[in-house]
Amino acid sequence: MRPTTYIKSPNGQISVGGVPLQDLAASFGTPLYVLDYDTLVSRMSAYREALSHMDPPGHAHYAGKAFLCRAMASLVQQQGLGLDVVSGGELATALKAGVDPAHILFHGNVKSRQEIRMALDHGVGRLVVDSLDELRRINAMAGDRGSKAAILLRITPGIDAHTHDFIRTGHFDSKFGFGLTEGLADQAVDEALASDHLRLEGFHAHIGSQILESAPFIANAEALLAFSRTWYEKRGFWPQVLDLGGGVGVKYGPHDVPPSLEPMIRQIDALVRQMTPSGQRRPQIILEPGRSVVAEAGFTLYTVEAVKTVAGSHTYVAVDGGMGDNIRPALYQAVYGAELDAKPESAPTRTVTVAGRYCESGDILIQDAELAEPMTGDRLVVWGTGAYNYAMASTYNRVPRPAVVVVRDGHAAVWVERESYDDVMRLDRALDGGHA
Ligand SMILES: Cc1ncc(COP(=O)(O)O)c(C=O)c1O
Repeated sequence: MRPTTYIKSPNGQISVGGVPLQDLAASFGTPLYVLDYDTLVSRMSAYREALSHMDPPGHAHYAGKAFLCRAMASLVQQQGLGLDVVSGGELATALKAGVDPAHILFHGNVKSRQEIRMALDHGVGRLVVDSLDELRRINAMAGDRGSKAAILLRITPGIDAHTHDFIRTGHFDSKFGFGLTEGLADQAVDEALASDHLRLEGFHAHIGSQILESAPFIANAEALLAFSRTWYEKRGFWPQVLDLGGGVGVKYGPHDVPPSLEPMIRQIDALVRQMTPSGQRRPQIILEPGRSVVAEAGFTLYTVEAVKTVAGSHTYVAVDGGMGDNIRPALYQAVYGAELDAKPESAPTRTVTVAGRYCESGDILIQDAELAEPMTGDRLVVWGTGAYNYAMASTYNRVPRPAVVVVRDGHAAVWVERESYDDVMRLDRALDGGHA
């Protein structure tokens, strides 16, 4: 999975966004997160375009958890997408970037009082409610200020998306949302409708991430529509909005085939038509893509620091980053593809293990990478790292986090500075006179 502007010259020099990787490494150092602007914007417009054909037009909210910084939040708004946040920190980032709070959805299975207050103070568009405790809390807090909070209820529809256990969320036994079968979802609707300070605008269900089939998304739409019908028949309540969450997969490895957006959205549109009671307005469909907007645009540039062959076993290619900048392989066996810069096409390849620099045996970025004669000093690119890499990065081993730069039309711009050692120590305080 490479960005759309990827070019490789006959001598193997790679450039993306018109910028040679060797120049990126020389100007910004490694490891380095790079995002290709054109790929990013084309993924956003693919969602915008596909959803615009729905009736009423659907809307995409970019899920900031995949990758967020101030510039990204601004770009999302510029491109006409809404923004999902899941914490006060993400909300603060969006607000600082000037995102219109009305276009923000506040998610998360735990929202502190301070975060709810912040959302209400700033007029966040909708809060997505995850539990009865939260529902009551938001009702009381909106009541204290004499307002009404617009909410969606997060439903757990019982759809088992075929993805890794840690990133599937729509099955019945999940920490997220209100389950359909045990009556919790009904209880939540009942309470929401009876709450003086809540305006129930619809339902939300996110079934998981890195889903490579369209069937679970269609089933999700069907489940939310069927649930809505029961409430229409019972109490005449019909949602304005059905939010189907994110989860569209991307091509990390050669066997990953992501679902096509257009036909999937057409099928959802047909379902909405079919299942809306006559005389009622069709609900607006919201999608919340994170990974499928940003993963493919991103890559990480490393320097090979050592090549070590263990007799009769693996050849380890050790790079200057690892689980601190990409935890996903260690966390859930995520698979990535890699390539060396500046190696002629004709160079023979060998299967090696790309190892990170962190003090964990599990810090292996790629188990079996086909690389062209790796040598110390080479630049190694790991493709498809735009989503859930920088967002999940840590300073484990007190290694500063890499910078994020964006390439476009031959220029590179810094979106996030590289951390310094001072940044890593910024919140530390010295031992005071030898006393703890
Ligand atoms: C509620 C919600 N919406 C959207 C997303 C984004 O998912 P993805 O990045 O797979 O598109 C997530 C991811 O966990 C989520 O929990």
